[in-house]
Amino acid sequence: MNTRPTPTPAPGNTHAPGSAPGSAPGSAPGSAPGSAPAPGGVAGESAGDPTASASGTATATVAGGEGEPREGAQRAVIIRTLQVKRAYGLGNATVWALRGVDVTIYRGELISVLGPSGSGKSTFFNMIGALDTPTEGRVLIDEVDVAQLSAVELAFLRCHKIGYIFQSYNLISYMTALENVTVPMTFAGVAPESARRRGLDLLDLVGLADRWSHRPLEMSGGQQQRVAIARALCNQPRILLADEPTANLDLNTGQQILDILQRINKQRGVTIVCASHDHRMLAISDRIMWIRDGRLDRIEHREDVNVRVGRIGEHAS
Ligand SMILES: Nc1ncnc2c1ncn2[C@@H]1O[C@H](COP(=O)(O)OP(=O)(O)OP(=O)(O)O)[C@@H](O)[C@H]1O
Ligand SMILES: [Mg+2]
Repeated sequence: MNTRPTPTPAPGNTHAPGSAPGSAPGSAPGSAPGSAPAPGGVAGESAGDPTASASGTATATVAGGEGEPREGAQRAVIIRTLQVKRAYGLGNATVWALRGVDVTIYRGELISVLGPSGSGKSTFFNMIGALDTPTEGRVLIDEVDVAQLSAVELAFLRCHKIGYIFQSYNLISYMTALENVTVPMTFAGVAPESARRRGLDLLDLVGLADRWSHRPLEMSGGQQQRVAIARALCNQPRILLADEPTANLDLNTGQQILDILQRINKQRGVTIVCASHDHRMLAISDRIMWIRDGRLDRIEHREDVNVRVGRIGEHAS
């Protein structure tokens, strides 16, 4: 049994995903000089953010059209894709993984990207996470075109603004759970003692307070995924991207992961985009984005999906 190494006073500043080591190319040590996250600032603005839009926060007037959020006339836009296309390969062997996707994602939303295997979910995830570059089209984060960012600005974006959760966890095998969570904070310039405190609080948040000294191989898949979630939160990102976070987990463990994601979204205001095959995502998402063959098939509100499913159920009975 592991005991917590130091009493942790729960300072309330433990939200902050960051790009995991090895998970977000470019988020190298020293990439965000002097950019330690402000305590308490979940999903807040990053002081000194070199990727901030000169024109400030973008808002869009919500017309109440298909797939638009309904509450309020104005919503802050956090991610926009404009005719994003991504081709792999050359000539006759070219595969168009994305064929022109236009999406607007609003601050504080939990949005799921659902679709069959090979439909382009991970490719879309890589695009809006600034991990890959569109063949055509543009990705805007806080209304800044990612293609215009310098290497240092991109590293800042990946380290501070976006937290990544990968299907394969991508934990460092020789490090403990706590070390895995604190490494990205070290990259971000957080003092070791603060990083340790915040790391312990984050492990507590995901229910792993007593496993802080375990290495990945000493943990179950669900526990490793929870460490990956804690790590993704360590630099207080405003956006959390999750690619199939429940794919390798049993039903119960998968549900626990979904509950944690929902809590992070509701309590901390972090915008979450989650690519998944898991239809339980329908229950926790504000909107569902259905991708098919590299195209955006439709975007629906959760309530509408529930209604439809309910009708199907009525017919069936
Ligand atoms: N690096 C690559 N080189 C060539 N083709 C690729 C590459 N990555 C993805 N693809 C192709 O692009 C298409 C979309 O792949 P993607 O991984 O985005 O699908 P997905 O919806 O995430 O699938 P899954 O649900 O199985 O994870 C697929 O046809 C895939 O074979
Ligand atoms: Mg995928």
